[in-house]
Amino acid sequence: MHAGPPHGHPSSLLRASLIAMLLVLMWLGLSQDDACVVAQPDPAQYVNMFIGTTNDGHVFPGATRPHGMVKVGMDTDSPGNHAGYDADPVYRVMGFSQLHDDGTGGGVPLSNFKILPSNCSSFTECPTSLYARKVLRALLPNGSPDDAASPGYFASNLSTGIRVEMTATRRTSLQRHTFPAPAGPSSPPSASPSSPYSHDIPHGIVNVDISNDGQISSQSPSVYINPHTGRVTGGSSFQASFGPGRYKVYACVDFHVPGARGAVPVAPSQYGAWSDTGVVENTTVGTQVTQGNAYASLGALLSFPLDPRTRTLLVRTGVSFISTEQACSNAEEEIPTFDFEGVQRAARAEWNEVLGTVDMEMAEGLEDTRVLMYSSLYRSHISPADYSGENPSWSSPEPYYDSFYCNWDTYRTLYPLYSLHDPERYAHIVRGMINIQQHEGWLPECRGATQMQFIQGGSSGDPILAEFYVKFAKFSEGLNVSALALYNALLADAEATPSNWDLQGREADAWKKYNFIPWDLWELGGSNGARTVSRALEYAYGDFTIAQVAQLLNKSDDAAKYAQRAENFLTLWDPTVDMPDGPGSVKGMFQPRLLDGTYRYVDPRHCSPNDPTHSTCYLDPNALDGFYEELHRSSRFHH
Ligand SMILES: *[C@@H]1O[C@H](CO)[C@@H](O)[C@H](O)[C@H]1NC(C)=O
Ligand SMILES: *[C@@H]1O[C@H](CO)[C@@H](O)[C@H](O)[C@H]1NC(C)=O
Ligand SMILES: *[C@@H]1O[C@H](CO)[C@@H](O)[C@H](O)[C@H]1NC(C)=O
Ligand SMILES: *[C@@H]1O[C@H](CO)[C@@H](O)[C@H](O)[C@H]1NC(C)=O
Ligand SMILES: *[C@@H]1O[C@H](CO)[C@@H](O)[C@H](O)[C@H]1NC(C)=O
Repeated sequence: MHAGPPHGHPSSLLRASLIAMLLVLMWLGLSQDDACVVAQPDPAQYVNMFIGTTNDGHVFPGATRPHGMVKVGMDTDSPGNHAGYDADPVYRVMGFSQLHDDGTGGGVPLSNFKILPSNCSSFTECPTSLYARKVLRALLPNGSPDDAASPGYFASNLSTGIRVEMTATRRTSLQRHTFPAPAGPSSPPSASPSSPYSHDIPHGIVNVDISNDGQISSQSPSVYINPHTGRVTGGSSFQASFGPGRYKVYACVDFHVPGARGAVPVAPSQYGAWSDTGVVENTTVGTQVTQGNAYASLGALLSFPLDPRTRTLLVRTGVSFISTEQACSNAEEEIPTFDFEGVQRAARAEWNEVLGTVDMEMAEGLEDTRVLMYSSLYRSHISPADYSGENPSWSSPEPYYDSFYCNWDTYRTLYPLYSLHDPERYAHIVRGMINIQQHEGWLPECRGATQMQFIQGGSSGDPILAEFYVKFAKFSEGLNVSALALYNALLADAEATPSNWDLQGREADAWKKYNFIPWDLWELGGSNGARTVSRALEYAYGDFTIAQVAQLLNKSDDAAKYAQRAENFLTLWDPTVDMPDGPGSVKGMFQPRLLDGTYRYVDPRHCSPNDPTHSTCYLDPNALDGFYEELHRSSRFHH
């Protein structure tokens, strides 16, 4: 396969000077004869995973693969724990869950299946509920928590003395819990093979929480414990983060005691399902049938005899949006041998492959810039996430991507970046988006946890597909992207009004009929009157991008039609609009327009830092001012 820009030699490099440094972008997927010089053998070493993990930064520092579905990491009780973690040590650890998003707003997304080792001395009285079991982290001499992370790896020492480490494959996590040696003098443990466990052998107790996601929204969870192997399977239904839908997700948790009896599973010495009323020893099945909007708490508590030499328990969690059976097969396929170091090495190698596509030369004394660059590049490859094989709505051999959160936020910069250094991933994502359009009618916009979520502006999948085609038209066949399917997906967004235009697509009929979205138009299917100016401006930009693709496909009539429609942004420009109290520094502004064609006055300072009314301009069906701008006055409104 040969991927490169449509013009010029693929190894011709993009040069951009940035703060006295030279950024050299290398192409991925070069043919053999293209010399590919990667100066940094291990660029992962420059990634600082903790940038942006305090004060509502919502950045995920846990372990994942590039675009991995499983993102395993710490969940704290911080109010800003959208990505689970908070670097502020005052916040307590509630568990280490398998799924996260990165940098999002809305309700706390995902954070499903929290696993937490405990130092409790009594199994039956071990605190199991989300709030009772919380634990502080150990502190370093400088007062920061004793946490460490690098691409594909996360570790923390808890105040209980238990060390928790984790790594991941695409759909499976592997945690390593190391329990502390008992305090005080004791005779060294003997490792007699005939009786590896005497009465004073150590035990590791682990809580597997099936129910408590980031929003505490679990309905009708269920859990099953295999008393012979310790395998825990379960699942539940949860609330999506930024939309009306609910999703189901399942886990399959297996345990392995290194050093003990080879690969044979070690039976738990104690086990039981737990609910709000605590753990009931020897129960293998737990179900909570919830009524209405009631939420339920459910999990499993297990105790395993450890090898006194390692005091270590490995915990492997397969995840699936299809079934517990698939969660188990994902785990068995992806991490068959509980080889923690092996999985960690493979994860880092996969990251280095992505990060190594960019090399940089720079002046002395700017090493921090290298850290900033690789850390940012790393973050650019966390979402969208590759959920291929995990789409509960239809099955298809095409890729399935999720965590588009949201395309309105990412189309301007993320995809242009991918087009420079990772065209293969870009193509894979585009194929997944086209497949969603073919089954649901419209391109995804703000998709999370398999659910459609709220649209912010227009149909921002359009510029993402168009960017791809404009840059890779000549290579789209080789990248397995059908130009015809891509173009049909664009036309669907542009021409067909969905039954709910708050979730996908556009208010297309109104756009075609009026050339703007009338503020006082009422039609079924979405938030009438809301964001009418912002949406129309985005529709116009989407049409501009479609015109570019039409032109490349020699569809000159379509190219002219969409270029014309793109100019409709001008219908909302009122050149006469002024400040409310007479002439000021602003003259002319976009304004909402009514069915009769007149403008509806909005102070031109609206949504700006100089807005005297401090409007939030947030995504709110009742915000009828016409604009959606996100000033980041409050991180609550950050996406
Ligand atoms: C945790 O403790 C272990 C053992 O003392 C140490 O090697 C490690 O660096 C500590 N920190 C983390 C984050 O693992
Ligand atoms: C568990 O760890 C906490 C925090 O260090 C400590 O206060 C508590 O006594 C420990 N419990 C047991 C049973 O060792
Ligand atoms: C659980 O089962 C074990 C093994 O049969 C037994 O020793 C123990 O007493 C049981 N616990 C309870 C609370 O019934
Ligand atoms: C395109 O599809 C073919 C056939 O399935 C496959 O061999 C090839 O690796 C794919 N190329 C890319 C870039 O995905
Ligand atoms: C469009 O027309 C040009 C010029 O005739 C031709 O080179 C190109 O292959 C055509 N593109 C498509 C997609 O048909």
